[in-house]
Amino acid sequence: MATPFLEVKDLQGWYGESHVLHGVDLTVNKGEVVTLLGRNGAGRTSTLKSILGLVGKRKGSIAVNGIETVSWPTYKIAHLGIGYCPEERGIFSSLSVEENLMLPPEIAKGGMSVDEIYEMFPNLRERRKTAQGTKLSGGEQQMLAIARGLIMKPRLLMIDEMSQGLAPTIVQGLFSIVRSLPEQGVSVLIVEQFVTHALDVASRAYVLEKGEVALSGDAAELARDEAFVKGSYLGESGIDATGNGEAELRFDDNDELPLAAGLLEAIEDRAAQDGRNATEVLLDLLRQALESPAGQRNGNGGMS
Ligand SMILES: Nc1ncnc2c1ncn2[C@@H]1O[C@H](COP(=O)(O)OP(=O)(O)OP(=O)(O)O)[C@@H](O)[C@H]1O
Ligand SMILES: [Mg+2]
Repeated sequence: MATPFLEVKDLQGWYGESHVLHGVDLTVNKGEVVTLLGRNGAGRTSTLKSILGLVGKRKGSIAVNGIETVSWPTYKIAHLGIGYCPEERGIFSSLSVEENLMLPPEIAKGGMSVDEIYEMFPNLRERRKTAQGTKLSGGEQQMLAIARGLIMKPRLLMIDEMSQGLAPTIVQGLFSIVRSLPEQGVSVLIVEQFVTHALDVASRAYVLEKGEVALSGDAAELARDEAFVKGSYLGESGIDATGNGEAELRFDDNDELPLAAGLLEAIEDRAAQDGRNATEVLLDLLRQALESPAGQRNGNGGMS
């Protein structure tokens, strides 16, 4: 019989006067990965923030391991064992990898050791002494954000938009880590744009629409429902899901990471993953683009 770790009932949330959550119900059981899906602006980030008390006002019930927390401050809720990787990752770029890892005070009192973290994320060990200000790739930043979320040994890790702007090979590596968390006693609540991956790693899914749960169910059943995966519930997220488990190369289009920087990061990530240099990877991508049917159509024997 499943035991809930997080039980949210009729959760309402506000930013100032703006009422954005209108009664969200969701449960994450111990040892379970659950995904929260929905269109842009549906309220996924606001739901994660509300659980941690990071919105202006909340109403309803948020029980963490059976304890009602809806009126608690964030630090007290976090101490019940909730880790959070925000959409913007929250990495201090002026600090080295190891300095970022040493920031949470819990490291001194029974959290994971830095060595345990490096065992889980070997890439971070290689980059641990990177000089202050050295730019980590997007994948390394996300690994660092997840490592930071895990270092206090949470019982539940909430991850917002894990694969945003990352190359497919990196995304697959991150999903393997997420998949391994329940066996280490960590439940997961994940917001994800790659719906196919999310439904693959999760056992259950909730779909938010306008600040309410529009649909919920068994992740494997939803994944088999093509109309659902490609449907309007998911907006762009659904369209992005390729259905064959292979994610497209996608790049951030927000202000923090303009297209050119996102492109460069994705190429560097892929180069690091494949053990090749970035120029080779770039030339390969260009060749592939030119060989694709669209490339042939546009190419038409000349430059246009
Ligand atoms: N700080 C804020 N102040 C006021 N309104 C906000 C704030 N953050 C989000 N909202 C509004 O709350 C609603 C839900 O936004 P939320 O960020 O939770 O959506 P989301 O599902 O995470 O989608 P996305 O990440 O694509 O924006 C949206 O209408 C959004 O405009
Ligand atoms: Mg969001």
